Order: sequence, then structure tokens, then C-alpha cells
Amino acid sequence: LATTSLSSDIAHLTDLQQDALNTLIKEFDVSTEKARSIVKQFEEEMDKGLMRYGATVAMIPSYVTGRPTGQEKGTYLALDLGGTNLRVCQVNLEGNSQVSIRQQKYTVSDALKSSDMRHLCDFIADCVDQFLTEHGSQALDQHYHLGFTFSFPVQQTAINRGNLIQWTKGFCCTGAIGKDVVVMLQDAFHRKHINVTIAALVNDTVGTLMAYAYKDPATFMGVIFGTGTNACYYEKMPRIAKWEGGEVAFDEMVVNMEWGAFDNERRVLPITQYDAKLDRESINPHQQIYEKLISGMYLGEIARNVIVNFIDRNLLFNNFSSPELNKQWTFETAYMSSIEEDETSDLAETQHILESIMMIPSTTLTDRKIVKKICQLVGLRAARISACGLAGIMSHTGNIGEPMVIAIDGSVYEFYPHFAENMRACLVELFGDAVNKVKFALARDGSGLGAGIVAMMAHKAEQKETV
Ligand code: GLC
Repeated sequence: LATTSLSSDIAHLTDLQQDALNTLIKEFDVSTEKARSIVKQFEEEMDKGLMRYGATVAMIPSYVTGRPTGQEKGTYLALDLGGTNLRVCQVNLEGNSQVSIRQQKYTVSDALKSSDMRHLCDFIADCVDQFLTEHGSQALDQHYHLGFTFSFPVQQTAINRGNLIQWTKGFCCTGAIGKDVVVMLQDAFHRKHINVTIAALVNDTVGTLMAYAYKDPATFMGVIFGTGTNACYYEKMPRIAKWEGGEVAFDEMVVNMEWGAFDNERRVLPITQYDAKLDRESINPHQQIYEKLISGMYLGEIARNVIVNFIDRNLLFNNFSSPELNKQWTFETAYMSSIEEDETSDLAETQHILESIMMIPSTTLTDRKIVKKICQLVGLRAARISACGLAGIMSHTGNIGEPMVIAIDGSVYEFYPHFAENMRACLVELFGDAVNKVKFALARDGSGLGAGIVAMMAHKAEQKETV
């Protein structure tokens, strides 16, 4: 799929359909030149975030310094909250880069996501309790140290302290913003007599980075392309101008960028009417604009907005829609993946999704081809502007051409067709062959393991201090 081709290749389109698609192609296009201007803006925003607190791209010092060696040993608990599920894990670090993990997933209901934070913490504590009852040690006095992956923007004040800046990704619990989330969860553990100490508070990107670094010390960034999107990387201490936390033992620290908020000012991103509509109708308008163009929570809704708009302009499905398709958030990003993957000559899978899941009365092959094209445009744009974020970090740190491992997790990266290859193609346009030295590594479910590793590092550091 060539980004620069400004007309669609579908046969038998009416002139109106052809024009509408051509316009769409232009609107969603991220040319190499456009990509360069996004990268430049990224570098500026990173600088601003490193200079002062409260910038759009928050650039949060994570208090994680140093790199795991793979030789660390110990048993730790980890919690992972922030995507679709809550995961509780027991992580056994066995040395020689070996680990074993036992984990259990729990569903966080929509009601809990918007209830009081105290309820959410009670629920988490109950899940930990249940997990320990099933999988924990039989010793009654067993005391665990826990790494808490909390994947939201948190202003950290210590390795195990941090105040929630704002909610993202559909969470909106009351009584949490500005509060220390570790204190709140630790209180719930106390209330329920659960013998667990929260030793580390970790963003999922940081967990992903640490998990892969335990295997491969060349790992330099941790990135999530899932329900939300974000990245972290190792920054040199002197460049974190706003750092007021005193001396640290290493010359580098992991910075959690919170890049989802990039370009909330809408300076450079190619924002269409379809994105603007999604943003306006979301629970956090004007926030997380970059995330809204990239991540799994939103891609389906952008595509739905385009499809419904095409129906309204008499360009699809003989003007028929359905209550299902008319409803917000019904067209899942996973459907787009299946549609993009559908290579059958009659687009049978696409037909199934449109007619049996979205309940469109009937579709023609041309209709289905148009829908597939719409999905491709939304998905391709997402991959290309994702690459701009990675390129921004690479330009900022200046290590283009050096061997580098980027640990990546998330459903969009893992399952969205061509996402990784489209990202890489954009990086090649920007940096040429230097990109050959960059390895994308899938770090599936890494954040739980990573949180266990950070808990271990924090626990060890604390033990050293008290000796
Ligand atoms: C959202 C959160 C961020 C997280 C990302 C991926 O952007 O604000 O903390 O890392 O989603 O889960």
C-alpha cells in the first residue's frame, strides 16, 4: 500500500465514491515530509517536558536507574492495572535471565472504572487476596514485596510513591486525581490484613523495558501500542533538567514520556473531522490526542466514524446502516484487523463482520472493498505516526545507527496486520539504512514481570541502605 498514491485502486467505483476515497487518502496521508515535521515537534516537546513539570508531554522521571543484569533472583508479586484486565502475578527470578511466572487475570468492570477509587483499590486487594490463597506460600507469616504497574500518568515522588495526574483510556474513578495511588492501595491491603508491601510503582512501558532488559541489556526503550500508547527510554541524568530528587547512583534514569498527550495543541498531527468527532465525544476531550490516533481503544471508532459518514453521503451499503453500527464504540479495532487480513476474493470475513456482527442488511463486494480501504488508511496512519514517536526519541538521544533494542507490547503491535512493517518503513524513510540496527522485540505481557524486577531492585536497594 503506497502512502503517496492519491487514488484508490478499487474497480467499479462511482465517481462520487472515487472522489470521496481520494479525499480520505489525502486526509489520512502522512508523507515523509509530514513525518519529519512530526518528529521535529516531538523533539521540542521532549525538551520542554525535561525542563519543567506540567508540560504536555510529561517526561516523568521513573526513579528506575541502572539496568537489570539477568542474574537477579527472588520471588516477587506484581500487579498490572491499566489495560483491559487486572493481572496479578507471582514472578520468580531465577538468574541466568530465567524467570517463571504464575498469573491470573481479573476483569475490571465498567462500573468499577468510574466508581470511587476506594472501591477500585478494595477490588484489587480482593484479587490479590484470592490469588495468594490459591497460589501463595502456605507459611502464615509470609510477607511479599509487590511491584505495582499502574498505567496512567503519575507524577512519581519516589520509586514507590506517585500522584495521579489524570485518568486516560476510559478510567474515571473519583477521589484519585492528585492523590498517591500507592498509599491508597496500601491502605486497602491494611484494611484487609493482606501482608504485602508495595515496593515499586511502575508504568507499563517501564515494566516492558525492564522485562526485556532482563533478557537483553541492549534494550533501550519500552513501548506500548495497546489499549493506549506510550513510551519510555533511558535518559542521561544531566538532560533531566527539572530533576530535584538529589544524587542518584547511576548516570541514567528511565523516563516515562506519557507521549499519548503529544500535540494536544494540534500543531502537526493530521487530525481529520473523524478524529475530532471521536475526541469531542470521548470522556477526555482535548486530551491524549496522539493516543487517540494510534491506540486500540480508538482506531475502530475512527473507522466507524468514516463508515457512517460514507453512509450518510450515500456512498455505502445502499444507504442502510444499523443500530449496531450507529452506536459509539461498537466497531472494534479487532474487526479492523480481521478485515485487513481478509484476502478472500469475495471478502467473506469482512462480509461476516459487517452483516452478522454489525447487522448491515446487505453489502456488495465494492462496499466491502471500500470498508477495507478505510481500515487500511486508519491503520497505516496509526503506524506511521507511531514511527514518528520512536524517531523523535532516536533523534533526541542521537543514537541512530547504533544497535538498539526496542521492547514493545500491546495488542495493536502484536495483532494489527502490517503495523510493525509499516512503522519500520516510515523509520527507513526518515533515517535510511541506519534503521537496520534497530530491533523491534515483542515483550508480550512484559509489564508484570518488569514490575516484579523493579520491586526486586527497589527492595535490594532498601536492604543495602539499612545494612
Ligand atoms: C496511557 C497511559 C500511560 C500508559 C499507556 C499504555 O497512555 O496514560 O501511562 O503507559 O496508556 O498503556
